[in-house]
Amino acid sequence: MITTRAAVLTTVGQPLHLTQIHVDDPEPHEVRIAVTHVGLCHSDLHYMTGTVAIEPPVVVGHEVAGIVEAVGAAVTDLRPGDHVTGALTPSCGACANCDAGRSTQCQRLAEIRRRPRPAYTLPDGTPVARLGDVGAFSEHILLRANAVVPLPDDVPTRVGCLLSCCVVTGVGAVFRGARVRPGATVAVIGCGGVGSAVIQGARLAGASAIVAIDLDEERLRAARGYGATHTLNGGADDLAAEVRALLGDGVDYSFEAVGSARTAAAALDVVRPTGTACLVGIAPEGTRLTLPAADFFFGEKRLIGSYMGSGQARADIAQFARLYRHGRLLLDEMVTEVIDFERINDGFEAMKSGDVTRIVVAMPAASGRPEEETR
Ligand SMILES: NC(=O)c1ccc[n+]([C@@H]2O[C@H](COP(=O)([O-])OP(=O)(O)OC[C@H]3O[C@@H](n4cnc5c(N)ncnc54)[C@H](O)[C@@H]3O)[C@@H](O)[C@H]2O)c1
Ligand SMILES: [Zn+2]
Ligand SMILES: [Zn+2]
Repeated sequence: MITTRAAVLTTVGQPLHLTQIHVDDPEPHEVRIAVTHVGLCHSDLHYMTGTVAIEPPVVVGHEVAGIVEAVGAAVTDLRPGDHVTGALTPSCGACANCDAGRSTQCQRLAEIRRRPRPAYTLPDGTPVARLGDVGAFSEHILLRANAVVPLPDDVPTRVGCLLSCCVVTGVGAVFRGARVRPGATVAVIGCGGVGSAVIQGARLAGASAIVAIDLDEERLRAARGYGATHTLNGGADDLAAEVRALLGDGVDYSFEAVGSARTAAAALDVVRPTGTACLVGIAPEGTRLTLPAADFFFGEKRLIGSYMGSGQARADIAQFARLYRHGRLLLDEMVTEVIDFERINDGFEAMKSGDVTRIVVAMPAASGRPEEETR
């Protein structure tokens, strides 16, 4: 067991509280990682503000990268010193869904996540939960070895952390979820971290038009840099009409990366008959969708969802790292600001303003790594 510092959510709706916690020793199949960088994801904010339920005390944070510092007895493919990011959908590798290449829907998740002791405890012994069994807003974390992806030397953890959530989610939704075809037209509603990755995925897939939709003009400007060919303000009364005015038709594929019933309905509305709308944003707990049934039977539209990239996170993250190294996936550009751990609550305030793509927290372990300074 080690003692470290974590940002604990003790009361939903209140800021995170930087305090000491105990981190258990790795189980045979786990590794302990000294966290260097964590991206602030809107999903963390959902739990912090209570739009999605969670039981405090809990350490949220999941878009993580760092340096392996201890490995469990059964871990053979990772060594202390390895620079890594997380694949946040650990899987058994053997159930029907894993076997079919759909490890994000592993049927034995509860079983493989079971631990004999809590991973985190407060000094008085109170167990502290971890979001997604990651709990990345801690200077040291435990991950299952099969949820850890090595980062090549030229992928700094400052941007490598993005691979574990917004990039695998957004690019994966394009390739694994919706399977966008070359030449297709695409609309992306919400151009934060996830939406920016969807836009890049659509560009890599060879989309002929990419319409970026957001309420924030700065996000729309950034979207063009990621590959958007058109931009629209999401506040428009009739987005579908605006899209048709731009392209002469609805789009072949739309992606919702906000998380609300209204934007989900808009995602279905902006696709042309036979098109596919893909829901990626996490809507508040209990949200129900009311959709025009005729879009499905007369219009033959498809509505799908995508979770954490819908695929084989480890393989996909390694592939996306290669795309970054070849300059085809822009990650440095997505990091709007790097802040110290002490400023984590300010980072979430900035996210609420909509004026940032990704804020990344640099943990103390990030210092002393000269390769972090340059690409
Ligand atoms: N399915 C998954 O696996 C998965 C993974 C990660 C995140 N998410 C979810 O995806 C969503 C986006 O996450 P993020 O981290 O990119 O968030 P973010 O806060 O970085 O970005 C959200 C963007 O949506 C824009 N927006 C808000 N309301 C809008 C509207 N009505 N119309 C158009 N744009 C609007 C904001 O201006 C902002 O740019 C969240 O709900 C998050 O929880 C889902
Ligand atoms: Zn996330
Ligand atoms: Zn499985």
